[in-house]
Amino acid sequence: MKNKKYYLISLLIGFMLFNFSLYAQETKDGATSEKTLTEDEIFYGTPLRSDTKVVHPPYAWGDCTTCHTDGDGGDGELIMDPPELCSMCHTPKDDKKWIHGPVGAGACTACHNPHESDNAKLLVASSINELCNSCHQAKGEFLHNTTNIHPPVQDQCTNCHDPHTEDHEFQLKADGKMDLCVMCHTEKEVWVNTVTDKHGALDKPRKCLECHDPHGSENPKFLITDTNMELCLTCHSEKLVTDETGYVLADIGKHLDKNPDWHGPILWGDCASCHNPHGSNNLRMLKKAFPRDFYAKFDEKNYICFQCHEPEKIQDEFTKDMTNFRNGEHNMHYVHVNKEKGRSCRACHDFHGTKEYPHHLRKKTKFGKINFPMRFIETEDGGSCAPACHARRHYDRITPIENLK
Ligand code: HEC
Ligand code: HEC
Ligand code: HEC
Ligand code: HEC
Ligand code: HEC
Ligand code: HEC
Ligand code: HEC
Ligand code: HEC
Ligand code: HEC
Ligand code: HEC
Ligand code: HEC
Repeated sequence: MKNKKYYLISLLIGFMLFNFSLYAQETKDGATSEKTLTEDEIFYGTPLRSDTKVVHPPYAWGDCTTCHTDGDGGDGELIMDPPELCSMCHTPKDDKKWIHGPVGAGACTACHNPHESDNAKLLVASSINELCNSCHQAKGEFLHNTTNIHPPVQDQCTNCHDPHTEDHEFQLKADGKMDLCVMCHTEKEVWVNTVTDKHGALDKPRKCLECHDPHGSENPKFLITDTNMELCLTCHSEKLVTDETGYVLADIGKHLDKNPDWHGPILWGDCASCHNPHGSNNLRMLKKAFPRDFYAKFDEKNYICFQCHEPEKIQDEFTKDMTNFRNGEHNMHYVHVNKEKGRSCRACHDFHGTKEYPHHLRKKTKFGKINFPMRFIETEDGGSCAPACHARRHYDRITPIENLK
């Protein structure tokens, strides 16, 4: 099924974006059949084999002197060498800024048979990838040995590279750092340009390639590191300034080093479970909303936390089991959070990592410009704290405590 999906998508891309006649030829007949890729196609790409021999017209004309000094072709001596020979009839293949090695060397026949071939475009190999990998052996090995290959790479290298010449480095059809990617991933272009909270990573020199390998990698989504967290920390192990406001972002690498009790998703190495690496319309590029300020009117929709935690933790005024933050059955989460001027979770918790207290309770809570200590003390059936907001107050799940006002 997966293969079929990929096949249809690549069909679409083949038709829409590049409109290679050869690609269209290849796929027209397969379009309606339940085709799955063979191992050869995965490693060597879409085959180019033609049912009938492809004969180069000047060869078919039978006048060998079009190209050879000798009327019967003789020992193959040419009237002139490629590429000049080929340029008699074809537009030059080396007229752009970046020229592919063998094209620059005039080695047209390293890839094309000048007479005839079983393959489309008179190619000497039965698929584009086989052709490319015959010289780029490291890429061939990469295709065999890598777990996740980017589908257009499996299909054919020429989805992105021109075999002859291009205006972009590596003979790419567009700048490989981003423009190329968004030729196909059009939704990403719209997204990164329209979100309100853009990610500075995309302003770094390698843009999309700061995080992704264009050919594939051992990691999901072709990331260049084992986990997305490693990736994030390559840049977020120092203080960074967000462009719009001049706000200085915490050094998350240092914070996690100093606060070894990491929140679940961070233990899995997955910062992207909460943040969208391509930017978002929420505070701090979060995938779902989170209140900007200390106080916020409670609304379940404003808390990304409920992607994983139960909202009843905050919604139910009385509960026996939805939260341990309760005095008897009176839900202290409800008391603090669920109101017109509710406190956001950040008043008490740190979502990245903590050290002093359990339950990801922070050591200090920031109110205005001041950091007040929480002074949390855990007991067997509850706990107490004495932040600046109030004198020490206790909660106990078994024996509810009457706190002084
Ligand atoms: C479009 C130009 C073109 C035409 C027309 C052409 N050849 Fe060639 N031929 C070449 C080129 C270029 C080579 C060199 C191939 C290489 O570099 O490997 C070649 C090589 C040869 C060779 C050397 C051995 C080989 O196959 O590599 C022979 C023999 C030959 N051609 C015979 C012929 C004959 C016979 C005809 C006419 C029926 C003919 N060619 C028509 C371009 C042409
Ligand atoms: C590295 C391999 C390679 C070399 C070297 C190469 N080509 Fe090609 N060529 C291809 C591939 C692959 C295609 C088909 C893909 C495509 O249409 O872009 C192709 C397509 C063509 C076509 C048909 C489509 C078009 O672009 O007009 C012509 C003509 C052509 N090549 C001529 C040449 C000439 C002339 C040279 C030498 C100056 C040359 N090629 C060198 C790989 C190569
Ligand atoms: C005397 C003219 C002439 C010369 C010289 C010539 N070609 Fe061609 N070639 C043609 C014609 C005509 C076609 C068919 C029309 C087209 O596709 O442009 C063609 C087609 C091609 C194709 C596309 C085949 C396909 O399946 O679509 C390739 C590739 C190609 N030539 C490569 C070369 C290379 C490489 C050389 C030099 C070694 C060369 N040609 C020299 C006339 C020539
Ligand atoms: C006949 C051998 C040969 C074939 C076939 C070949 N290449 Fe190359 N390629 C080279 C050489 C030689 C260079 C230049 C040496 C270098 O810079 O690594 C090169 C350079 C490149 C580069 C630039 C690499 C760099 O580091 O600058 C890219 C990208 C590339 N080739 C892609 C392709 C693709 C895609 C194909 C198939 C359409 C292909 N090659 C087929 C020989 C080949
Ligand atoms: C999805 C687009 C895409 C496809 C398909 C693709 N490449 Fe690339 N390739 C790139 C980009 C982007 C770069 C530039 C990478 C960089 O800047 O580090 C690149 C760079 C390269 C380079 C030079 C740097 C390196 O990685 O060695 C080679 C060689 C190369 N590609 C070969 C191939 C071959 C062979 C294939 C087919 C098996 C292929 N590419 C398919 C996008 C692609
Ligand atoms: C020729 C079209 C094409 C180009 C160019 C291209 N991609 Fe892709 N990409 C695809 C297709 C097709 C898929 C598989 C379908 C899908 O998941 O969207 C894919 C999948 C992906 C995926 C995995 C998606 C998933 O959900 O698993 C990532 C990540 C990706 N591409 C990143 C890039 C980056 C980065 C670039 C630029 C270097 C790029 N792509 C260039 C066609 C392309
Ligand atoms: C800061 C690192 C980073 C940058 C820069 C980046 N990505 Fe991603 N990308 C990721 C991560 C991490 C994921 C996996 C997201 C997840 O698991 O939710 C991903 C996922 C994807 C996917 C799969 C679909 C999705 O959204 O989950 C595509 C396609 C993709 N990226 C394309 C791009 C393109 C195109 C660019 C450049 C415009 C780009 N990425 C820039 C880190 C990055
Ligand atoms: C290539 C460097 C780089 C990588 C990799 C990177 N970032 Fe960033 N990030 C930045 C820069 C620079 C800024 C500051 C500019 C800005 O606000 O976007 C930033 C800003 C942020 C912000 C604050 C956005 C705001 O303005 O409110 C968050 C949150 C963030 N990154 C999370 C992540 C996560 C999660 C990852 C891993 C998926 C990650 N970053 C990977 C460079 C990077
Ligand atoms: C459980 C969800 C979650 C996970 C996982 C997560 N974050 Fe965050 N992150 C948040 C929330 C919520 C905020 C907003 C905090 C605030 O404004 O007080 C935030 C804020 C940030 C900020 C801005 C800090 C500042 O000084 O305001 C950065 C940078 C950041 N996260 C990076 C990361 C990185 C890197 C990872 C992975 C190591 C990560 N986050 C994992 C939820 C998460
Ligand atoms: C992607 C899923 C996910 C999201 C989103 C998420 N969490 Fe968590 N959270 C977990 C997991 C898994 C655990 C259990 C491991 C641990 O203790 O960190 C956990 C544990 C906790 C704990 C400690 C439980 C204990 O008793 O020790 C607190 C507090 C917490 N999360 C608060 C939050 C807050 C606040 C948010 C919203 C900013 C949030 N979480 C968002 C997955 C998530
Ligand atoms: C006034 C401080 C405070 C606020 C605000 C707060 N919490 Fe808590 N939270 C606690 C305390 C204290 C505990 C530890 C309860 C215990 O185990 O004794 C806790 C425990 C948790 C736990 C562990 C499981 C449980 O319920 O016992 C999760 C998950 C959690 N909180 C999520 C959240 C979320 C999500 C928000 C915001 C919507 C939030 N908290 C707001 C103080 C707070």
